Amino acid sequence: MKKKIIIGNWKMYGGLPNIKSLCDLLNLGTCDFVGNLLDIVLCVPAPYFDYVRSNVHSNISIGAQNISQYNDGAFTGEISASMIKEFYCAYTLIGHSERRMLFGDNDNVIQKKIIQALNYNIVPIVCVGETLNQRLNNQSYDAVLKQITNIFYCSHNGIDNIILAYEPVWTIGTGVAATLTQIRDMHKFISFTVKNINEYFSKKIRIIYGGSLSPCNAMQIFALDNVDGGLVGNCSLSSKYFISIINKLLLN
Ligand code: PGA
Repeated sequence: MKKKIIIGNWKMYGGLPNIKSLCDLLNLGTCDFVGNLLDIVLCVPAPYFDYVRSNVHSNISIGAQNISQYNDGAFTGEISASMIKEFYCAYTLIGHSERRMLFGDNDNVIQKKIIQALNYNIVPIVCVGETLNQRLNNQSYDAVLKQITNIFYCSHNGIDNIILAYEPVWTIGTGVAATLTQIRDMHKFISFTVKNINEYFSKKIRIIYGGSLSPCNAMQIFALDNVDGGLVGNCSLSSKYFISIINKLLLN
């Protein structure tokens, strides 16, 4: 069985006092044994990597929210895989829809970022998902298929370690998650697609859901077939909500 995983994406929210209290409360709410049962990852803004690593329970891993496609060089503002690794990140998000839409992370860039992460043994959490327009025009499956095909076009060593996050773009930050049927059907499709690409990959690769995950819907979503965990935005900024979502995953 695949180990379940829960990932918090703090996005560009912070402020040391907030982060300090979030770390303290997460430490109180997550027991030692949790690390054996599931993986917990916090994708935090880069300036806080060090603080969070030093102050949060060791059974919680740190992740980056983005990684440069380049190794090093004159790329002002970029953060390389080796820097992320030096600052304790075991994971990185790649291709989050906010990056795809606002920062030009296209399929080609995403492939390069995956390779950078794998070269440094950082686990890529690669986001896929359709826009509202694509959903309304019955193009959801085509859109996700194209994104997944692009990811596995890269046959780099370690590609079987990636995590796929299905995040319908129209559910992100809206407070409205996809329906259970939509999630179940898309996860089945993603699992089938990965299996078609490589049967061995499909036994390893975890597929998680993201998009307005909350304590109210997590239990039902996590109970669905082919859902191996969740990617949580807004609710990861509240220790109470995030711990509640972790507990729902533990119960499944
Ligand atoms: P949300 O964000 O939980 O606030 O919808 C999810 C994400 O952006 O990964």
